[in-house]
Amino acid sequence: MLTLGIESTAHTFGASVVESDIDKKDYKKSTCKILSNEKDSYTTTTGGMIPRELAEHHYACSLNIIKSALEKAKVNLSEIDLVSFSQGPGIGNALRVGAISARQVALKNNIPLIGVNHCVAHIEIGRKLCNAKDPIMLYASGANTQIICYENSYYRVFGETLDTGIGNFLDTFGRELGLGFPAGPKLDEMYFKGTLAKVSAFAGRSEAMASPRELLELPYTVKGMDLAFSGLLTSATKKIEEVKKGKINQEDLVYSVLHNAFAMLTEVTERALAHTEKKEVVLGGGVGCSKALQEMVKKMCDERGAKLFIPPNSVMVDNAAQIGWLGLLMYSSGVRTPKNKLVILPKQRTDDVKVVWRKN
Ligand code: FE2
Repeated sequence: MLTLGIESTAHTFGASVVESDIDKKDYKKSTCKILSNEKDSYTTTTGGMIPRELAEHHYACSLNIIKSALEKAKVNLSEIDLVSFSQGPGIGNALRVGAISARQVALKNNIPLIGVNHCVAHIEIGRKLCNAKDPIMLYASGANTQIICYENSYYRVFGETLDTGIGNFLDTFGRELGLGFPAGPKLDEMYFKGTLAKVSAFAGRSEAMASPRELLELPYTVKGMDLAFSGLLTSATKKIEEVKKGKINQEDLVYSVLHNAFAMLTEVTERALAHTEKKEVVLGGGVGCSKALQEMVKKMCDERGAKLFIPPNSVMVDNAAQIGWLGLLMYSSGVRTPKNKLVILPKQRTDDVKVVWRKN
């Protein structure tokens, strides 16, 4: 079965062709082959995403991206069995472009259509590509920050951000530092660069003596199982002034901000592991690509005897392959999206979706 997946929840417009042989009796025996995974992302040098410009970007590139996904997969539209699109959550203007593109392709070629949840798609592609059985997902992206796991027919949200997503928080902090957008990869580089420079300066002394990183005092906000980043952002932004005056080192500030933010995510993930007694963690979302976050979560998993799965970066960032794969799972379980009642669901939550393709 061949699915054309279309992603358009935020800055990325993506299209992908996924080939699969779904085994309804034994999910693990189903195959998932990503034949293509094309995308184009809206970027800015200053400020955030402007919804109207986002929609214009997606309209402008949609046709070429879909064409390119079919060409790379060496597949004709007449061979596609299903069109799957991201129905939510996301920015309305962006979601609408994906939904309309998907419906046009489906109507014109008489192909079934299915709308899927973007967050659930991250979980399912991570689970499939890493061969994880029943993991907790740490979903850390621009707009979303959730600790999720499967319980009784739903992906339950065990903890989440109460204000901004971790990625948006890092980008705002990075913008204040003058790093441009997206700032995450540059911050990650600075986190390790600062560490290495200091380690070599202390060469010859024991690691404990060297104290290569100075942890500055900054807010650390975990409320029950939820997190908040605005206090950390306000304090970190104020400390940039001290960096400019030469009172504190920029690398120490970046290290401390990332350390606190990622420790908050790691703490909630650990408590979800303890509560559910699950033994696997899978990362998802663009911030999941951070080596600093991976290092910290890995350490926690090792100490607890849990296994950490890190999917390829190409499916941790927003991508259409995961949309195609989840569409296949849902369609083969009998879920249908009527073409004449097409809706987008900008506020749809991970735990709104009944997981009919998994057995308890
Ligand atoms: Fe995402």
